Amino acid sequence: MSDTVDLVINGGTIVSPDSRYSASIAIKDGLIHAIGAPEAMPPARQTLDASGLYILPGAIDVHVHFRDPGYPQKEDFASGTAAAAFGGVTTVFDMPNTLPTIDTPEALADKHTIASSKAYVDYGLYAVLGEDSIEHVPGLIEGGIIGFKLYMGNTFGRIPSPTTGAMLEAFEVVAPTGKRISLHAETNSIMERRESRLRASGRTEAIAHLDARPAVVAVEAVARAAILAEWTGARIHVLHISSAAELRPLAEAKARGVDITGETCPHYLLLSEHDYETFGGVIRVNPPVREATNRQPLWDALMDGTVDVIATDHAPHAPEEKTRPDIWTVDCGFPGVETQMPLMLTEVNRGRATLEDYVRWSAENPAKIWGLYPRKGTLTVGSDADIAIVDINREWTIDDAKIQSRSKISPWQGRKATALPIHTLVRGRFVMKDRVLQEDARGSGRSVHAIQQMPPATPRNTDTTMAAITSRSER
Ligand code: NCD
Ligand code: ZN
Repeated sequence: MSDTVDLVINGGTIVSPDSRYSASIAIKDGLIHAIGAPEAMPPARQTLDASGLYILPGAIDVHVHFRDPGYPQKEDFASGTAAAAFGGVTTVFDMPNTLPTIDTPEALADKHTIASSKAYVDYGLYAVLGEDSIEHVPGLIEGGIIGFKLYMGNTFGRIPSPTTGAMLEAFEVVAPTGKRISLHAETNSIMERRESRLRASGRTEAIAHLDARPAVVAVEAVARAAILAEWTGARIHVLHISSAAELRPLAEAKARGVDITGETCPHYLLLSEHDYETFGGVIRVNPPVREATNRQPLWDALMDGTVDVIATDHAPHAPEEKTRPDIWTVDCGFPGVETQMPLMLTEVNRGRATLEDYVRWSAENPAKIWGLYPRKGTLTVGSDADIAIVDINREWTIDDAKIQSRSKISPWQGRKATALPIHTLVRGRFVMKDRVLQEDARGSGRSVHAIQQMPPATPRNTDTTMAAITSRSER
């Protein structure tokens, strides 16, 4: 029968950014074919009973580090995307601080080969925008990227941070392409100077990491990046916003019409300086987990739209790399792609936000910001059937030993959650079903760059760009 669909999901409650309602979903050829009453659904090859469960657009985690190629002891594209599948995450944007760094078309092509052969979920690949890769911008875009990543501060991978002069030129070059530049916004010279002074003074305990990186490290970077984005018309995204103080330059830039978006992560919303003693080096991450007074302003900023997105900065390292006694030798970051949805929905259950808010931050906004909406980020007829089916009345305790990531160490160890993804589908295909990885889905994830449609670019001050002034003979 030609109108037979592949799958009908019955009995669940569908959540969109503005409402929730009970309905069945029919899926055909990877797309949502129909949404409506059960009796209105076409005949299906397969059905799923989702009674009592919530049906969310799969999360789009715009900030993960899957370490492939280069650091298989930490993670690879299979283990990282399996972790995503268990976390209700159907698309990830993977960072370029692998080995080699993704800053040439050749390295990008190799990474596409790796990712497409191993991925359980869909993905976008970032490329580094640095002093040496400005010349590769057209080739990198041609090779298929979701956007650029610019490191204003050093972090894992030791990718050199460009000078402000190089950053301006890089923004000038990217602005007319319409691609978004995601920023690790920490000013290198401030934190390196403080870290070397702290090391010289003999401080080695975990919280010395926070002393090296007070919020001004991030505030100065966000403000400077916003000025360069405003001048050039480049689109920017501020990754991992960790402090209340960053919200002011972010909100002010938005008010001036700068195309700037922001993200925060569960660890900045839920952890604080009080957790350093318990977790030691395990909690070391860039930017650092900060004073508890930063948390409520970050929640408020999500609620009022100053911060747009929840991402995880999933940064897996091996246990041995996280437990060294001297904090300055501990690798920064910890896994998160698998625990973000349970942790955030646990806060929803506590009344801190609604399910609709969560769907806006985790799916709709990321899709809109990177030009994937409405193919991704929403459950509507014609969209990709990227779906997280979640039990929001499930009490469980996070146990790092049981997570899919190779990095079985995090500051979430022992934390209680009250929500759990039960099934995850990517373009209509189960990648995790009844908490079991669907091994045959390995290699079915696809790069989303091909469906990206950014709005037209609006470069500014084009008569002052490096290209403009150097092509002139006089004026
Ligand atoms: C990240 C990593 O390990 O790659 N570490 C971190 O502490 N966040 C790099 C980064 O996102 O800064
Ligand atoms: Zn970063």
